[in-house]
Amino acid sequence: MRLLVTGAGGMLGQDVVRAARGHEVVALARRDLDVTDAAAVEAAIGDTAPHAVVNCAAWTDVDGAESDPQGAHAVNAAGPNHLARTCAAGGARLVHVSTDYVFDGERTPDSEPYVESDQTGPRSAYGASKLAGEQAVAAAGGSHAIVRSSWLFGDGGSNFVTTMLQLGAERSEVTVVDDQIGCPTATVQLARALVDLAGSPAQGIFHVAGGGRCSWYQLAVEVFRIAQRDCRVVPCTTADMPRPARRPAFSVLATERQGTPVLGPWQEGLAAYVSAMRPVGA
Ligand SMILES: NC(=O)c1ccc[n+]([C@@H]2O[C@H](COP(=O)([O-])OP(=O)(O)OC[C@H]3O[C@@H](n4cnc5c(N)ncnc54)[C@H](OP(=O)(O)O)[C@@H]3O)[C@@H](O)[C@H]2O)c1
Repeated sequence: MRLLVTGAGGMLGQDVVRAARGHEVVALARRDLDVTDAAAVEAAIGDTAPHAVVNCAAWTDVDGAESDPQGAHAVNAAGPNHLARTCAAGGARLVHVSTDYVFDGERTPDSEPYVESDQTGPRSAYGASKLAGEQAVAAAGGSHAIVRSSWLFGDGGSNFVTTMLQLGAERSEVTVVDDQIGCPTATVQLARALVDLAGSPAQGIFHVAGGGRCSWYQLAVEVFRIAQRDCRVVPCTTADMPRPARRPAFSVLATERQGTPVLGPWQEGLAAYVSAMRPVGA
């Protein structure tokens, strides 16, 4: 299979390129292909004639999207629209990555997870831009998989886990929100699922995230436990730490679709990731 990976320089994109070893891979970072440029998208797909495109390019600055919603829309909605139309016209499949932030997140902590058919209702400019991207991919009418995931961590970029380890190396106590519940997901595991879905004919939306659920506070506690760092984690509420963008209080994802790749418990992905890291501050 020939795979074209967009956003290949990003945290997830790097792991997708690694997961696709054994296939023919064309890895395009932002400097190689700006997905907001329709002509460049057509040229890249026309030149490489991929069987599938895995779109890891995105505007991921959730707070920054509140002050520049057009900028976020260009990358997260117009970009996937160009990709999806070009793929549909050329007979290539598109695997597009989306997010739990498309949901309003207003369920209580012990609720049932969100499944693919649940109603969306983003509460942030980032979430709205990602939902518009999903809709553009579906509307283009080609073969596609829209993969919603959440709370990513991986080798290819800074993330909540690296932030915690950095803070833990500098201080003896960190304060972390305990009233947002989600599914931490290892990009290395998600990447394998994306490559699997690139080679599958299954159509539509798929929820692929680490198994189980936790709060950011619980995730931080587990990070320090695995890293054997003596850093006290103090729980707080979202209201204690105001941010420009509203985050879903509850964004646990599960699948209702047979054949969807299922990832192991989030603790396993986290343990593998943290154990393989060079110690921060050591
Ligand atoms: N991170 C999470 O917790 C999380 C959770 C759920 C879903 N997701 C989704 O997962 C996907 C991958 O995210 P990630 O965590 O890997 O984020 P990331 O590390 O920020 O990767 C995104 C990549 O897209 C590139 N990019 C930005 N604008 C572009 C453009 N116009 N054309 C081409 N490339 C462009 C970025 O390049 P620059 O760095 O040069 O700007 C970056 O390399 C995204 O679809 C995101 O919405 C992420």
